[in-house]
Amino acid sequence: MAERVEIYEVGPRDGLQNEARLIPTADKVALVDLLSRAGFRRIEVASFVSPKWVPQMADGADVLARITRRAGVGYVALAPNLRGYQAARAAGADEVAVFVSASEGFSRANLNCSIMESLARLSTLAEAARQENVKLRGYVSMVVACPFDGPTRPVAVAGVVAALRDLGCHEVSLGDTLGQATPDGFAAMLEAVVQELPPQRLAAHCHDTAGRALDVIDVALEMGLRVVDAAVGGLGGCPYAPGAAGNVATEKVAAHLAARGFETGLDAALLARAADMARAFRAG
Ligand code: HMG
Ligand code: MG
Repeated sequence: MAERVEIYEVGPRDGLQNEARLIPTADKVALVDLLSRAGFRRIEVASFVSPKWVPQMADGADVLARITRRAGVGYVALAPNLRGYQAARAAGADEVAVFVSASEGFSRANLNCSIMESLARLSTLAEAARQENVKLRGYVSMVVACPFDGPTRPVAVAGVVAALRDLGCHEVSLGDTLGQATPDGFAAMLEAVVQELPPQRLAAHCHDTAGRALDVIDVALEMGLRVVDAAVGGLGGCPYAPGAAGNVATEKVAAHLAARGFETGLDAALLARAADMARAFRAG
């Protein structure tokens, strides 16, 4: 039997947070509903951050209220603090994702605080998740390079991964936020990170600015990772990371994995429809 790789869909969150125009809630709901039928185990559908910082995600509770939930699909929301966590849970998120940076410059730009402060801020959130038995996913941004600080040291990434592990994250997703990683650079980072968390609990989160995301994903697979983040239609970017382009496209990753003999459980025809819908949002 073919080995399974999970594609973790981030388009409705990482993708749509970066669109210049506000996408109507009904359109977001239509995209999530189509994705729900395509076979994903988890879809990141919203974020509960400050609407002043990211106005595109201000309707997260409405999105979660209006989607048609499909059995077997986990609906995940991003939260920067306890308030965001509580809002995500009240809206019905099954899993909550938290995010920190491996570089100080981006931590300031994205969260308005240092790395240490951001981790300390997450402790009350993590305590609530523990008590309520809610799964936490961790993200680390700028795992290879940062637009403010330059190259990121692998040991710095490993330190932040260890802190997220200690906060109770069941999985940590490693963000090449800028999409400039080389396969060798990503491998060097992973060598340090797997000292802290085994590859089965790591995910690769690639933006595709330089067109090397599939090569980087291949390195991640070689090192034992089996979760890959992607956004349908290649939506995305990060509003606080100058130069970051879209996430690697889900349909591209799915085709690549299939060609390499991995099983993703995704329906290629439905994915193609979702990609068309996502691209129409961008054009519209
Ligand atoms: P701050 O200004 O330092 O702190 O923001 P604050 O506590 O003064 O909050 C500012 C305002 O937001 C206040 O409102 C708060 O009440 C409100 P005001 O008093 O001015 O009217 N607020 C909230 N509102 C709704 N929900 C909340 C919430 N918390 C505070 N949860 C803060 C600090 C963390 C809030 C801000 O920096 C923020 O929201 N940052 C989020 C930035 C963001 O969402 N970036 C994109 C996601 S990360 C990403 O894309 C990377 C990733 O994909 C991986 C990768 O590619 O690397 C995950
Ligand atoms: Mg991202």
